[in-house]
Amino acid sequence: MSRIEEHPVLTFRKGRKVTFRFNGQEIKGYEGESVAAALHAAGVRKLHESEVKHRPRGLFCAIGNCSSCLMRVDGRDNVRICVEPLREGMTVEEQNRKAVMDPERFPRAGELRKQEEAVTDVLVIGGGPAGMNAALEAAAHGLKVIILERNARMGGQLSKQTHKFFGSEKAKAGTRGFVIAEELMAEIEKNPQIRVWHDTTALGYFRDGTVMAERDGQIVSVKAGANIVATGAFEKNLVFPGNDLPGIYGAGAVQTLMNMEGVVPGKTVVMVGAGNIGLIVSYQLLQAGVRVAAVVEAAPRFGGYEVHANKLRRANVPILTSHTIKYAYGGDRLEGVVLTALDSSFRPVPGTEKGLKCDVVCMAVGLSPLSEFFFQAGCEMKFIPELGGYVPKLDEDRRTSVKGLYAAGDASGIEEATSAQLTGRIAALAASADLTEVPDLESRMKDYKEQLLQLRSGPLGGKILSGDRKLREKGGVDYEK
Ligand SMILES: Cc1cc2nc3c(=O)[nH]c(=O)nc-3n(C[C@H](O)[C@H](O)[C@H](O)COP(=O)(O)OP(=O)(O)OC[C@H]3O[C@@H](n4cnc5c(N)ncnc54)[C@H](O)[C@@H]3O)c2cc1C
Ligand code: FES
Repeated sequence: MSRIEEHPVLTFRKGRKVTFRFNGQEIKGYEGESVAAALHAAGVRKLHESEVKHRPRGLFCAIGNCSSCLMRVDGRDNVRICVEPLREGMTVEEQNRKAVMDPERFPRAGELRKQEEAVTDVLVIGGGPAGMNAALEAAAHGLKVIILERNARMGGQLSKQTHKFFGSEKAKAGTRGFVIAEELMAEIEKNPQIRVWHDTTALGYFRDGTVMAERDGQIVSVKAGANIVATGAFEKNLVFPGNDLPGIYGAGAVQTLMNMEGVVPGKTVVMVGAGNIGLIVSYQLLQAGVRVAAVVEAAPRFGGYEVHANKLRRANVPILTSHTIKYAYGGDRLEGVVLTALDSSFRPVPGTEKGLKCDVVCMAVGLSPLSEFFFQAGCEMKFIPELGGYVPKLDEDRRTSVKGLYAAGDASGIEEATSAQLTGRIAALAASADLTEVPDLESRMKDYKEQLLQLRSGPLGGKILSGDRKLREKGGVDYEK
């Protein structure tokens, strides 16, 4: 059974039962869940074929970031079914050819219809923990705020975290991640200063500060005094033969299926990466009743906290350090992997190959900032490996080199959810101070920065601090418009 009936932490609220058609066959699912979750629960893994080599493709990110799940829905090509809600009577088909654009839905340039225009003080792009905190901070200073969120719900990656957070009381230590997300959403809902535009994807930034976005195939635009980008991150994959087989998922996709949709990703999982995300998601898989065959880690030591590794050891899950995947095999779906040991230079050691049967490989090998928006706006950008890749150059209050554009959360450097909240606060405080009088500016800023520093004084904070220093160093800009 792919649906989770009982869970030690979560209860899944489902919509009414509906019927839809997949490749002509009738399937049942629940209204409002993603089409991907409904297909997954029905055992469908292959969603389409690649255009040129016709290789099978399945889910990868499950948050609308990649193009791994494109299907034809109700006669419309290129629908990302991981973020498409299921409706009664829907028709879903594999799209094993080049997409055909619907001229009704995608008019030519010059024919674009504007659905809505708005003017506001602060625009926040992305409703994850960074964006939600940024909105609340700006609203606290009397400013009008709009949040653009491409999904039907805010919360970002935080909504999938079922474990209790560490840290200080102020940072809501001891509270589960998804509860923190719900509390923030409730606070935003009752704040009359904040408007949330769901299902709205920010597409482009114009020099005068106008942001264009797409909602339901139509263009909407917002002109704001300050724009805060908090778009989060995307997950990395590794290069090995068969890495595109249906059944190879990013850790975030596994969390989306399992912790939000109540659908298990498969029966047996090989986890790749033993940082905190890999260790935590492995434990969450065990909680959902899924077997974790092994956690594979290329480095000679696992990178996550001991407390998370101990939970896996107690459940007899082997953590294979100095190992990686040599290749994955299967037909229309993953059937197994062959692992290899690595020497101290990360080279495969011949003769150490061993096979593991599995129907899921979960990739927890790091995230890269979703920083395209900064490039597009013409920000000075730097490549900082410690922060996950290209990030905008920032001043100490999170202003980018483009006036009126600020950065917060993973989009400006990969860290974790509590620091995303704090960087959201700092960026919005700076933006507010640039737009209006903020009487307690200094003490507020000092408080947020001290909390951030305290957070970064933990075992994994050194890397971030070093990345942050490099970001602020003079010169070294890799991209400048
Ligand atoms: C698998 C996984 C497990 C994790 N586990 C933990 C953990 O256990 N503990 C922890 O502290 N942290 C964890 N993290 C990290 C933490 O969740 C992130 O650091 C944090 O959520 C970052 O917050 P954010 O607001 O910057 O981005 P996100 O949470 O990613 O939110 C970004 C939001 O922006 C929206 N968006 C993106 N692009 C657009 C656009 N163009 N237009 C409109 N909206 C857009 C997205 O839909 C999303 O809602 C994990 C991350 C992952 C991927
Ligand atoms: S866009 Fe749907 S899986 Fe990535």
